[in-house]
Amino acid sequence: MKLLDKIGREFSGYNIVESAKRLKDRKPLQCSLYVTDRCNLDCAYCTEYDNSRPHPSIDELKKWVRKIRELGTMRIALVGGEPLTHPDIVELVRYCRELGFATSLTTNGFLLTRKLVAELEEAGLQVMQISVDRMTPSAITKKSFKTVLPKLDYFRDSKISLHITGVICADTLPEAQAVLETGLSRGIPTEVRLVHADPLRRFRVDRGQREELEQFIDSMIERKRRGEKIHTSEAILNYQRSLLRGEHVEWTCAAGYKLFFVSAQGKFWICSMVHTNKHIMDVTLDDLYANYKKKSCQEGCGVYCAVSASLLVEKPVRVLGKEILARAKRVPSLLGPLSGTRIGHTTPENATNPNGAHEMNGSSHGRPAAEDRVALGERA
Ligand SMILES: C[S@@+](CC[C@H](N)C(=O)[O-])C[C@H]1O[C@@H](n2cnc3c(N)ncnc32)[C@H](O)[C@@H]1O
Ligand code: SF4
Ligand code: SF4
Repeated sequence: MKLLDKIGREFSGYNIVESAKRLKDRKPLQCSLYVTDRCNLDCAYCTEYDNSRPHPSIDELKKWVRKIRELGTMRIALVGGEPLTHPDIVELVRYCRELGFATSLTTNGFLLTRKLVAELEEAGLQVMQISVDRMTPSAITKKSFKTVLPKLDYFRDSKISLHITGVICADTLPEAQAVLETGLSRGIPTEVRLVHADPLRRFRVDRGQREELEQFIDSMIERKRRGEKIHTSEAILNYQRSLLRGEHVEWTCAAGYKLFFVSAQGKFWICSMVHTNKHIMDVTLDDLYANYKKKSCQEGCGVYCAVSASLLVEKPVRVLGKEILARAKRVPSLLGPLSGTRIGHTTPENATNPNGAHEMNGSSHGRPAAEDRVALGERA
């Protein structure tokens, strides 16, 4: 990839003009659509899958995305369950692109093949998040580099911007550092984030040792400031640190307004945790705006995409400015001799110096290209 292309890709996700418009008007920036409730895995921390339910039909999904677009939504994040289990996922991606959505997809990666990656790229998918929690599978989560590493090669010359996201809990914490290094050493923007709070005690996991978690987050903040491709924005790293310390954070939740979720039954959800029974087809812009308020569930909220969007709406200059600065620090590393490092061909040198291995496909954040990927690319 040419140097200018690489530099351009570091910033391509910003689309500042478009995003700025959406920050000022009353229209939504992003919708996360559950393409299906079905999943091929059973992560112990997850409450977002249900194999007793059939896939929604492609016609239903298309009807819902038309409506989501009519509301003025810029970006659509295809989530689940596992979106790649849906037989019509490529057609859905193509349709979302035809409607003008910036389009991303979050997957556990198990069903990825070279052919499917090529089809998704051809359909116009812009961003893919692959979830990787550990180096090797465990009883808690099977999402590990053991499965995903061989698949990274499919993205070598792909236009799809890839990033990796892991969940930190007691089971994954001992390997979280290795997950981070493995992704970064291949030039892939990578993040590991605290498991959501679990007030209803539905998860089968523990969060992990507070001191260790705090140290780890501090080290990510430092590396982010040095320009390494830590995928989480500094705002959300700071937020996670405050969560661990039990500190109050001042913010107003914009979920249900600037970003919202649509279930695999077509129901409008405020976020992944707060559901309503209203059908997306009946939702108006006024309904959305009515959700812009402080919410009783804010304290300890772990829906990072919602926190991110909310902080961006409140403090766009501060949040965007920090991220642009962090990305600018990456530019010198694009000039180095290792910039052609191939994915999956890591030397010990660049494994310990992740900033030395470079661009794989230029992704810089977890959301579609029309987004500002600074704070909004985070999947809850
Ligand atoms: C619900 S999954 C759906 C997409 C796909 N099945 C996957 O695992 O990537 C979306 C993202 O949410 C994350 N996730 C699920 N439960 C979580 C929890 N309790 N805390 C934090 N992240 C969680 C997953 O790891 C994944 O990155
Ligand atoms: S996190 Fe993703 S892969 Fe794991 S059970 Fe939930 S939906 Fe499935
Ligand atoms: S505070 Fe968190 S849990 Fe509550 S509605 Fe907002 S995003 Fe959802």
